[in-house]
Amino acid sequence: MAAWGGLGRVVLWLLVGVVLCVGSFPGRAGAWGADGHHATCLLAEPLLEPATWKAVRSLLPEYANGSLASLCTWPDDIKWMWKYHWTAPLHYIDTPDFLCRYNYDRDCYDENGHKGYCASGAINNFTSQLTNYHLRESNPPLVTRALETEYNLTEALLFLSHIVGDIHQPLHVGFTSDAGGNTIMVHWYRRKANLHHVWDTEIIDKAKDLYYNKSLLTMVNAIMENITNDGVSKAQMWSECPNGEIACPDTYATEGISLACQYAYRNATPGSTLADEYFLSRLPIVESRLAQGGVRLAAILNRLFGANSTSL
Ligand SMILES: *[C@@H]1O[C@H](CO)[C@@H](O)[C@H](O)[C@H]1NC(C)=O
Ligand SMILES: *[C@@H]1O[C@H](CO)[C@@H](O)[C@H](O)[C@H]1NC(C)=O
Ligand SMILES: *[C@@H]1O[C@H](CO)[C@@H](O)[C@H](O)[C@H]1NC(C)=O
Ligand SMILES: *[C@@H]1O[C@H](CO)[C@@H](O)[C@H](O)[C@H]1NC(C)=O
Ligand SMILES: *[C@@H]1O[C@H](CO)[C@@H](O)[C@H](O)[C@H]1NC(C)=O
Ligand SMILES: *[C@@H]1O[C@H](CO)[C@@H](O)[C@H](O)[C@H]1NC(C)=O
Repeated sequence: MAAWGGLGRVVLWLLVGVVLCVGSFPGRAGAWGADGHHATCLLAEPLLEPATWKAVRSLLPEYANGSLASLCTWPDDIKWMWKYHWTAPLHYIDTPDFLCRYNYDRDCYDENGHKGYCASGAINNFTSQLTNYHLRESNPPLVTRALETEYNLTEALLFLSHIVGDIHQPLHVGFTSDAGGNTIMVHWYRRKANLHHVWDTEIIDKAKDLYYNKSLLTMVNAIMENITNDGVSKAQMWSECPNGEIACPDTYATEGISLACQYAYRNATPGSTLADEYFLSRLPIVESRLAQGGVRLAAILNRLFGANSTSL
C-alpha cells in the first residue's frame, strides 16, 4: 500500500513535470491558430492545378486522406519535440523595435544567430528542396536514394504550407522585444489576452461567431467568393513574385511588418481594451491576409508542381 502510495506520488510529480516542460517549451506561443492554417490551405486547395494535386497527393501521407488542409497544422504539433526543436524559430521573424521594416540579412536569424532560421529563410529552404521533386520522380533509384537521405519532401511540403500561412499573420513579422505581441497583455473585450493571440485566433473566432454561423468553412467560402469575384486580377497580382521567383517571402514579410505597425500594434498598448472598434477595423486585414496566404501558397505549389514546372 505504502509502496504504491509512494510510487503514485512519484508518477504524479513526473506528470506534473512533463506538463510544465511541455507548457514552457519552446518558450514562445503563436502561429495562426488551427483555424488560420486550415483557412489558408483550404483557400489554396481549389486553386491547385491537376498536376499540382497529383504531386501533392503523392507526398501526403495516407492518413491525410488527400487533404492538404488536414495536415497544415502539423509543424505546430511537432515543434515541441526534441527532434524538431530547431524548427520553432521558422514560424516567425523578429524585426527591430518600432522600425516597421524587414531586411533578410539583418533579421533572419534564430536565437543562436544561425542565419536563415526564420519564416522567410524557411520558405526559401523548403521551396528549394521541393524543386527536387521532379528530379526524384524521373530519375533512377540511385539519384532517388541520394536525395531521399537528404530531404523528406513530405515534411518540406507541410512546413512550406504552414509557414506561408504564418508569414501572412501580421504579428509573425513583429518587434523583437515584445516577441511579435506575445508579451503585450490587453483585454480582448472582457477577457485578458496577449496581442499575438488576438491576431492568431481571437479575431477569426469572433468573426466566425458573428458572421459565419460559427463555421470556418462558411468563412473560407466568403473569402473565396471575394477572391474570385472582385479580385481575379488582384489574385493574379498577389501570386506573382517581383523577379519571377518561385516564392518571394521577403515581399510577404515586408508587407507583414508594415501591416503590423499600421493595424496590429496601433492602439493596442499594454492594458488597453480592444473591442468592436478594433475588431471591425482589423477583420478585413485578417481576411485579406488569409486570402493572400492561400493564393500565394497555391501559386508556389503550382510553380513547383504544375504543368509548366517540369523544366525547373
Ligand atoms: C482520414 O479519414 C479517417 C477515416 O474517415 C479518419 O479517421 C481520419 O481522422 C482522417 N484523417 C485526417 C487527417 O483527417
Ligand atoms: C533546411 O531544412 C533542412 C531539413 O529539411 C534542415 O536540416 C536545415 O537546417 C534547414 N535550413 C534552414 C536554413 O532552415
Ligand atoms: C517523412 O516525414 C513524414 C512526417 O514526419 C514521416 O511520416 C515519413 O516517414 C518520412 N519519410 C521518410 C522516408 O523518412
Ligand atoms: C448554421 O449551422 C447550423 C448547424 O450547425 C445549421 O443547421 C443552420 O442551417 C446554419 N444556418 C445558416 C444560415 O447557414
Ligand atoms: C471582401 O472584400 C471587401 C472589399 O475589399 C472587404 O471589405 C471585405 O472585408 C471582404 N470580405 C471577405 C469575407 O473577405
Ligand atoms: C504554361 O506555359 C504556357 C506557355 O507559356 C502557357 O500558355 C500556359 O498557360 C501555361 N500553363 C499553365 C497551367 O500555367
